[in-house]
Amino acid sequence: MSFAADVRAGLSRDPKRLPPRWFYDDLGSRLFGAICALPWYRVTRAELGLLTGASHVVRRRMGKPGLVVELGCGTGEKLALLLEGLLGPRERTRVALVDVSREALALTASRLAVRGGLSVQTFRADYRVGLGSALLQRARGPALVVFLGSNLGNFDPPQARRFLTRIRRALRPGDGLLLGADLVKPEADLVLAYDDPLGVTASFNKNLLRRMNDELGAGFDLDTFRHRALWDAGRSRVEMHLVSCVSQSVEVPGARLTARFRRGETIFTEASYKYTESGLRSALGDAGFPCECSWIDEKARFALSFFRVP
Ligand code: AVJ
Repeated sequence: MSFAADVRAGLSRDPKRLPPRWFYDDLGSRLFGAICALPWYRVTRAELGLLTGASHVVRRRMGKPGLVVELGCGTGEKLALLLEGLLGPRERTRVALVDVSREALALTASRLAVRGGLSVQTFRADYRVGLGSALLQRARGPALVVFLGSNLGNFDPPQARRFLTRIRRALRPGDGLLLGADLVKPEADLVLAYDDPLGVTASFNKNLLRRMNDELGAGFDLDTFRHRALWDAGRSRVEMHLVSCVSQSVEVPGARLTARFRRGETIFTEASYKYTESGLRSALGDAGFPCECSWIDEKARFALSFFRVP
């Protein structure tokens, strides 16, 4: 779906919502990069800390991959680190990058170019479409699918199971999956991670309004919206919302829409599901990935898991 179509559909319904994939225009990708550097958002650092150790195990278990597919590559920092541990100094492989952000793909491709010996293909697409295209790049040797950074957390549990099953079906014997998932932790830590004192996450969230203004000619006054992050323990998810502080109507010509807001009404912009260790194991097991190896950062409560298709 296009941005305009998603905005039209998402702001016409009650409650209003927008899919999180639209966060990642050029500015949004940079703001997300800044989030990853925040002391309160520990996902990225925790994962980086686990990756080198994991990469050696992955290499031992599956040998040299002929293709590495990353779903949601961000800046490529994690993939570069992973490949360093996965490949010997002169070894070559193919890499297929899937991301909705042009900037993310370009950043990652240029970072990987520095290493040399990699043949990199980029797919600007959502995960489902991108996964299929990326796996067509298979060469000799097994394929490794890399799905990091708690990207899985944007799917609700049934979607997550369906998507993991889709990955499993696309894989062949000898292929592997490396998955990074954020775990349930104390509420205060979760809220601070998604409502940081520097306001970077608030800017990341409000950037959606700025993007609608720029791309769809919308008339959002950013000062009349507030960022809100909350932990829903029952659903095991952090929610992000944009709260309208006043009752107002906003024209969005590019989506052929007038959006009406009650005072206090919100746009639900993101759900980030957090897993328990057993919940993660069962979601993966049900999808056909019985746990093989996992690494956990106990302080940040973040898990990296690896599976090899028998
Ligand atoms: C990129 C989806 C994993 O949910 O933690 C970070 C995005 N949103 N802070 C997450 C995000 C607010 C992030 N994911």
